[in-house]
Amino acid sequence: MIPKVRKAVFPAAGLGTRFLPATKAMPKEMLTLVDKPLIQYGVEEAIHSGMNNIIIVTGRGKSAIEDHFDVSFELEHMLEARQKKDLLAAVRSVSDMIDVFYVRQKEALGLGHAVLRAKEMVANEAFSVVLSDDVIDAELPCLHQLHDIYEFYGCSVVALMEVPPENISAYGVVDAEPVSHNGGSGRLYRIRNMVEKPSPEDAPSNLAIIGRYILTPEIFHSIEAIEPGRGGEIQLTDALKHLLRTRPIYGYKFEGTRYDAGDKLGFLKATVEFALKRHDLGEAFREYLRGIQI
Ligand code: G1P
Repeated sequence: MIPKVRKAVFPAAGLGTRFLPATKAMPKEMLTLVDKPLIQYGVEEAIHSGMNNIIIVTGRGKSAIEDHFDVSFELEHMLEARQKKDLLAAVRSVSDMIDVFYVRQKEALGLGHAVLRAKEMVANEAFSVVLSDDVIDAELPCLHQLHDIYEFYGCSVVALMEVPPENISAYGVVDAEPVSHNGGSGRLYRIRNMVEKPSPEDAPSNLAIIGRYILTPEIFHSIEAIEPGRGGEIQLTDALKHLLRTRPIYGYKFEGTRYDAGDKLGFLKATVEFALKRHDLGEAFREYLRGIQI
């Protein structure tokens, strides 16, 4: 039997230049969608997919992330004294749910390099990687969907999404053939090749990799074996391509809506959609939006 994936790696050492000046002194992972930082959405997705062991790869100036997932005695004491039960539960739920471990990536040398930093902590088991910029709203968490495929095949699985040609250069792109699975919903692919951020003419398809991966531990060897690629960085896509030489890799076109919260427009869209879905805010916010002149 294939053991369940328990560990989730969160690369969080990027510089967040797309959100300057907000990210000058604050990690981009702490940008807030309604009332939760981006990284917490990813952490909750991992927990709801059975992965309670959270490994965050941080860099300089990221201590707010560590504080966020830590117990805050003063805050809890104050909320308790003032009998703010709901807020207390919300604050505690963050630190109670998980075991968080931190590892430093001293220099931002690419996504593959960040994942490699987690090698010792992951040890010899399959693990997931979550890019918190990609916020995914789904009935069954995206990582859970990938895990179901992993449990069946025992191979690495990446999340896929169709994107229009004008946006394809922002992604890792796969060349893949559809595979029927369990009577099939047409969502599973076996990957033949992949390329990081190709020009539209060179893109092998319109299927882009989105920031959710389940990886088998051989990926570490592949990351160590490759040379810097696009942008002079050690790319995870290149390592996956290297792994393809010896292991099958699957892609799964997940069910759900993905927001690119690392982009200003994507972030705004996510904020509006998430606020509209909230039972405590949705109605009032909808009313407000109806009333403004656009
Ligand atoms: C990273 C990966 C890319 C992937 C993307 C998904 O790129 O390198 O392959 O398609 O995440 O969001 P980044 O957006 O960090 O430049």
